[in-house]
Amino acid sequence: MPALQNKNYFNYGGQGPLPTESLKAITRSWQRIQELGPFTNNVWPYITKEVISTKNLLSEICSIHPNRIAFTENVTSGCVLPLLGLPFYEGDHLLISDCEHPGIVAACKELARKKNLRIGILPVLQLCYGDDKKNETYKTILKLIDENLKKNTKLVVLSHLLWNTGQIMPIELIARKIKEHSSKPYLLVDAAQSFCHIPIKGACDMADIYAFTGHKWAYGPEGLGAVALSSRVLEESNPTLIGWKSLKAEEGIYVNNKNPFHSDGRRFEIATSCVPLLAGLKNSLIMLHNQGNETERFLKIKNLSAILWEKLNQIKNIKLVLDSPPPSGIISFSIDGINSSEEVVKHLGQKNLWIRELEDPKWLRACVHITTDLTEIDNLVFALNNFIATEIS
Ligand SMILES: Cc1ncc(COP(=O)(O)O)c(C=O)c1O
Repeated sequence: MPALQNKNYFNYGGQGPLPTESLKAITRSWQRIQELGPFTNNVWPYITKEVISTKNLLSEICSIHPNRIAFTENVTSGCVLPLLGLPFYEGDHLLISDCEHPGIVAACKELARKKNLRIGILPVLQLCYGDDKKNETYKTILKLIDENLKKNTKLVVLSHLLWNTGQIMPIELIARKIKEHSSKPYLLVDAAQSFCHIPIKGACDMADIYAFTGHKWAYGPEGLGAVALSSRVLEESNPTLIGWKSLKAEEGIYVNNKNPFHSDGRRFEIATSCVPLLAGLKNSLIMLHNQGNETERFLKIKNLSAILWEKLNQIKNIKLVLDSPPPSGIISFSIDGINSSEEVVKHLGQKNLWIRELEDPKWLRACVHITTDLTEIDNLVFALNNFIATEIS
């Protein structure tokens, strides 16, 4: 992976590196499309095969039928396109966690403004406990859900893995609880940080909208994601951004055709997209699979994050967000006595070490993945120690 050759990389939650073999697969696919087409009868079977094989692979990873999957460009469109087509009525209540990504929050707020809906906040940012307190954390989350669901709650929006604290949400348990609630809210899960990072099978099946991307933890190219949809969403959500891909057939669209849309995931696909990216994502997913199943890989990530957490915990000025080793590969922290997180990121960047700052709360975030090695962890710890020793008196 060229991106990992010349730096110490901890920004998997922002964007993962693309393996050379995946880049080659993209180029090969692009070349094949030119040789066969680009717009000829000869190229269609090739494109169909690429689409079907990638959907089948995703359906195996998600453990759901491929008909429930729609390709998207990114996580946000996977969340927003099916969301905007759901039936909401004036006064309905939307429950959104306080750890959602700004783009998703903005989309929910705009939806609420247009349709006159109420928004309530599910306070999960406060759950700053490590992996050893998983059972208590899950109990608290379920209690919080109970306390915050209202008679007219129609939607719950919650990430599977919180991008700021690194806490895992028990989506299967939450989905069960929500299903028992009288107003039967939809469950929208932002899976930006969970896909190819933690086990997702049950959560993906139980959520109504489970949206992910290839370009973070899956080592895929940017510009290709997917969303898994429940049969309820496929029945009840109308396509919102409509194009030829959403249609069962292109002919007859002018005549009285009450339901021209696909009834499967394709109703949320729009129009021309970049086919070669499918080959890149497929290659990365197969490479990941060859490194172990999702549980084996997750254990490796957790071991690495426990090592980094323990080492950071030894540094006096560092305040870790979670109180014991984390449940995932995301480690957030702040540094007492610094002027801004930005200066830390800049300083580390000059040493070829890449972590990111978070805006709200103002934390620093380092992510470890199966490609992280112990030397990288040591380099980060050493650089942070040096920074603190020289910049903070
Ligand atoms: C939790 C979460 N949701 C959504 C996004 C946005 O992702 P995308 O650009 O693929 O829509 C991110 C990106 O960092 C994220 O971390």
